[in-house]
Amino acid sequence: MALFEWDETFSVNVVEIDQQHRKLVEMVNELHDAMGAGKSKEILGKIIKGLSNYAKIHFATEEKYFDQFGYPDADSHKDEHANFAQKVAEFKEGFDAGRLGLSIEVMRFLSTWLKSHIKDVDKKYGPFFNENGLK
Ligand SMILES: [Fe+2]
Ligand SMILES: [Fe+2]
Repeated sequence: MALFEWDETFSVNVVEIDQQHRKLVEMVNELHDAMGAGKSKEILGKIIKGLSNYAKIHFATEEKYFDQFGYPDADSHKDEHANFAQKVAEFKEGFDAGRLGLSIEVMRFLSTWLKSHIKDVDKKYGPFFNENGLK
């Protein structure tokens, strides 16, 4: 069962960004399902690496538009991205080193962060991006 389903309430009204968010949601669900199915450490490690890499690509996309359009809340938004990337990197390191297992708490952190970041932080730039011609 999926941990979380993307629906229109998560839309930021920008096609490219919505697609990336859907993919991130899928990757979090994939990790959750793989964990639930008792997949090997190697497979889980690959999924975590993929999620970590894709999150970076996604943050870079949003930040490129912040810079391009002069988004006023860019600094605090970039800080949130950096904090999340740091947490995921620490988690990945711990997992790779065998110090840390995949836990319900980790999954809950990932899904809660993603949901609240999209709904409370990302959605704020939607109208601003639209005004700058990005739809
Ligand atoms: Fe985002
Ligand atoms: Fe963001």
